[in-house]
Amino acid sequence: MIKAIKGTNDILPEEIVEWNYLINVVQKKMQLFNYKEIRTPIFEHTALFSRGIGESTDIVSKEMYSFTDRSENNVTLKPEMTASVVRAFIEHSLGKQSGLNKLFYISPMFRQERPQAGRLRQFHQFGIEAIGSHNPMLDAEVIQVAFEILRNVGLEDLTVTINSLGIPEERAKFSAALKNFIEDRKSKLSEDSQRRLDTNVLRILDSKDRNDQNLLKEAPSILDFLGNESLEHFENVKALLKSAEIPFTVEPKLVRGLDYYTHTTFEITSTKVGSQSALCGGGRYNLLVEQLEGPSTPAVGFAAGIERILLACKSEQAFTPAKEEIDIYLIRLDNQLEKKTFEMASLFRGNNLKVELDYSTRSVKAQMREANKYNARFVVFIGGEEFGNGQIQIKNMQTGDQTLLSIKDLEKILQIVK
Ligand code: HAM
Repeated sequence: MIKAIKGTNDILPEEIVEWNYLINVVQKKMQLFNYKEIRTPIFEHTALFSRGIGESTDIVSKEMYSFTDRSENNVTLKPEMTASVVRAFIEHSLGKQSGLNKLFYISPMFRQERPQAGRLRQFHQFGIEAIGSHNPMLDAEVIQVAFEILRNVGLEDLTVTINSLGIPEERAKFSAALKNFIEDRKSKLSEDSQRRLDTNVLRILDSKDRNDQNLLKEAPSILDFLGNESLEHFENVKALLKSAEIPFTVEPKLVRGLDYYTHTTFEITSTKVGSQSALCGGGRYNLLVEQLEGPSTPAVGFAAGIERILLACKSEQAFTPAKEEIDIYLIRLDNQLEKKTFEMASLFRGNNLKVELDYSTRSVKAQMREANKYNARFVVFIGGEEFGNGQIQIKNMQTGDQTLLSIKDLEKILQIVK
């Protein structure tokens, strides 16, 4: 039997209810903050991601689903949206049409990581890219949108962590100092971190290895390398978050796994989803548009993992989506009346009522059980003596009340069931 590919999930109808609940909260919040939806293709030229995200990142160096198509194009299933949105922004000159583009997306992403709870190879993100302003209000707004969505779906166990990576010159000085600090302790570091010393020294700060973390306690802090402008930007973001009553902690080791960040970085984590604790991450990327050959344009954004959020919701029992129900279940008393039942279903459905009926030849008792299973608000009996006289029995499943009405008196029927 052919099974689904490892690290991919089917989302079954019962789970869709939770997905739609979350997506509904996302769409409402995006509307409130005036973000417009953007959709980009599932695959792009590989160069977009290798240049955008950075060659030495884990995503580009070992996680991308890349292949050569029949026309010898190197293409990649998108591992994230920021590079794609920036490409679309440049390609369609969105910056010329409007000074500030506040965009949001909901989309599948692909990364060949080792699958585990909360870590998939096809997963889904919703997120924001706000392109066109340096203003720290936008950094704070992006964090606020992410935080409020998570709060609105009912999550309470949330930690917001923020940091600033400043500008490249400041980061270069910090990287050199960090390298110096680490060189002396190199032999004690994990193999992964030793490798990163030459490829991407900042990512060592992200190491999950306990021993590495201990060694890094005394490491220099990026915040000591920021110039006045970067510090002022960071202070402004913090003040705005405070005014929005968003609790946060500053973590100078928060460097994130993508190379494009400048200034603000942030993550929102939950202790309820095991080791894959980041529900959401993002930050400012003032140089990416230029790096992808667009006009110099500052930007900030975030992305959140839908599967991880739903795991956290389950574990916190954060929400119980409303139980599904139908308006009418049609109970056929006589199997000769299939055509009539079909016509009644069409009539009610044509009047915007959610109707279900029996597609086999179940007994009346079994049909009643089906009606209960579907949480039918009403059942309508098709058949019997009254039906021959042009009348139907309507039963209110909550009160048990039965009403006999003429089929022709549609207005009255609708009054009762609506
Ligand atoms: P990221 O931190 O790579 O950032 O991913 C954001 C979120 O996507 C994570 O916090 C996590 O919830 C989810 N996620 C990532 N990988 C997986 C996976 N393998 N399985 C399940 N969920 C996963 C970005 O993607 C940036 N583009 C965010 C951004 C937008 N920065 C600025 N703008």
